[in-house]
Amino acid sequence: MSMPWSGRALVVGAGGIGRALASSLRMNHPQLEVTLCGRELAAGIDWSVDLESPPSLEAFQQKLIADSLPLRLVINATGLLHRADGDAPAITPEKRLQQVDLHALNACFAVNAAAPLLLAKAIEPCLERSRPFHYASLSARVGSITDNRSGGWYAYRGAKAAQNMYLKTLSLEWARRFPQATVLLLHPGTTDTALSKPFQSFVRPESLFSPERAAGHLLEVLMNQGPDQSGSFLAWDGQPIPW
Ligand SMILES: NC(=O)c1ccc[n+]([C@@H]2O[C@H](COP(=O)([O-])OP(=O)(O)OC[C@H]3O[C@@H](n4cnc5c(N)ncnc54)[C@H](OP(=O)(O)O)[C@@H]3O)[C@@H](O)[C@H]2O)c1
Repeated sequence: MSMPWSGRALVVGAGGIGRALASSLRMNHPQLEVTLCGRELAAGIDWSVDLESPPSLEAFQQKLIADSLPLRLVINATGLLHRADGDAPAITPEKRLQQVDLHALNACFAVNAAAPLLLAKAIEPCLERSRPFHYASLSARVGSITDNRSGGWYAYRGAKAAQNMYLKTLSLEWARRFPQATVLLLHPGTTDTALSKPFQSFVRPESLFSPERAAGHLLEVLMNQGPDQSGSFLAWDGQPIPW
């Protein structure tokens, strides 16, 4: 039987799936010290980090470097598909080219593509060559170029495809420098959260997962991968997704 996972586990992104991942890890892996990280400190959030803010990432990195626990697992569960609040212009997934807008392209890129790579950069000083470590980031099947059959959603699709390239590239670098590290891109399946809410009428009820169910699937897949699978893009059922 393999050793239970122990050390620090960070779940970054305190949305629907992020919170469910943190709860499931706490319940099923008591040897892990699970820390839920959100953009701002609020109910249930242990540490704050805004992945779009260099000073916030710097402060987060310093906190991790000072941490006495070995870093065992980091899951990035942040993401952006639509936004209607605050002073910034609203973001809605595009149905056609004439709806494409630079602000939305940049905003989606910042969260869905740049943020997972900058998070990896921030945690890297805490990795050790001989210590097992998993970094999983939530991507989306719609980021697959091969699987794109319906079009639309330019900003989100393009940014998730860019994330896939960034983390595949990272997996090759870490394979040389941290051979015990496993980098994964995971698709959770359509899950009942604020991100999918406006689009759920297109989803068959049996295909819409609760956040708890999605978290269970994701952790099952994640914990069954090792360094030989680093750089994989996998769906909730463990099946590879074509790039
Ligand atoms: N739900 C689905 O059906 C589905 C399907 C495929 C893939 N996914 C992917 O799964 C991941 C999790 O999605 P979800 O459904 O849980 O969505 P969600 O409930 O909207 O959660 C996304 C979280 O990301 C956080 N976030 C965004 N920008 C951030 C930043 N700069 N710094 C820190 N946190 C930030 C948001 O915080 P704020 O509220 O403060 O912005 C929010 O809590 C995403 O990558 C999404 O693309 C979801």
